[in-house]
Amino acid sequence: MGLTLTKEEQAMLDGEDGEGTQKAMEIVVALGTIYGADRLCAISSAQVSGVSYKNLGTAGLEFLEEWAAKGAKSRVTATLNPGGVDLTRPAALGFPEEFTRNQLRVIDAFRKMGILLTCSCTPYLIGNDPKLGEHCAWGESSAIIYANSVLGARTNREGGPSALAAAVTGRTADCGYHLDENRKATLLVDVRDELADESDYGALGLAVGKLAGKGVPWIRGIRPSRDDLKTLGAAMAAAGGVALYHVEGVTPEARGRAPESLETTAIESLDDVYAQMNGTAEEIDLVSIGCPHASLDEIARVAGVVRGQRLRTRLWISTAGITRALADKQGWVRDIEAAGGTVIQDTCHIVAPIKDMGIRTMATNSGKGAWYAPSHAGQNVRFGSLDQCLEAALTGRWPERRKGSRRRTVPPPPVDGIAGG
Ligand code: F3S
Repeated sequence: MGLTLTKEEQAMLDGEDGEGTQKAMEIVVALGTIYGADRLCAISSAQVSGVSYKNLGTAGLEFLEEWAAKGAKSRVTATLNPGGVDLTRPAALGFPEEFTRNQLRVIDAFRKMGILLTCSCTPYLIGNDPKLGEHCAWGESSAIIYANSVLGARTNREGGPSALAAAVTGRTADCGYHLDENRKATLLVDVRDELADESDYGALGLAVGKLAGKGVPWIRGIRPSRDDLKTLGAAMAAAGGVALYHVEGVTPEARGRAPESLETTAIESLDDVYAQMNGTAEEIDLVSIGCPHASLDEIARVAGVVRGQRLRTRLWISTAGITRALADKQGWVRDIEAAGGTVIQDTCHIVAPIKDMGIRTMATNSGKGAWYAPSHAGQNVRFGSLDQCLEAALTGRWPERRKGSRRRTVPPPPVDGIAGG
């Protein structure tokens, strides 16, 4: 049948709204045609990825500047993924000068296109939170999976240019996860291990991601908090390309019981995941918390542990600028930075050029962070609980997990919605 455009969409394609919009509509139409969509759908929001100069390089930077010069402008709420530097104090934190200059040009191009400079992978924590059933066009795999699974919004896995094109046109192809039939579970996962720390949810995400590939897992046997869901999905998307999951009795499209006749797999223990994800590093150059970007609750927990102490190695808590500002008001940033840590904004350990900053060994409580750090940031990685990571920050060395110690000893924060921690 082919892709049918409305009058307004055809006008955009014909250049009536300017060259920037025309270029964007050409991308949206090309993708719609490739994916066999018969129409476009209007979106309520976009999350634009492809921001770090480390990934964009000169070609990507010039592409963005050209679009900005042609007058491309977002027509929906559009937020931005992290870039490669903390925009508030790049020199003080040791980000390379030339890299910073180029990163600032990237950010300026997005500003000119009307994208909100949130520079965070957790737009849903800072105001871009589409509601159940709403169509949107999000880049950033961890945000996409959260939007689909936890918010019940509908987005495909958009790339940087396609999310930007969707923001500029306010449209995306009506296919994939926008359609009911593609949101049904394709496999059932029974979790029999006891999950205590957020890192356990990251480990579970890695295991389920490998099992599910690009399918839609339905998970039973867990009661995650909002932050647990954040880390669970991020890891699943990293290890398997999952863009939507359901947790029975927790996520909005899994209120009832699992559909019958799904292929079922049981996960008895996550110990193998920890064994596979742990490198050999003993001395730790950087402890990284906040992948995806830390919530206020997570920052509060770290502050509670390091308050009044002296860290022996670098500790980064990566978060959104808005979240950092609130944590600062509460005194938590001061607690962490007085101990020698950094509450870093606008970037993270994967998209920042940390190898060029002399960092070779890293500890993290994030499944996604541990998955990507060796290949994307050249790191020898340690993956464990928040307790273990903060102990590493305090001593400079990785503490081995003691048998049976996978318990949450840093108390869970109160959560607003989803499920009790
Ligand atoms: Fe976010 Fe960076 Fe992790 S963009 S999900 S903190 S790799």
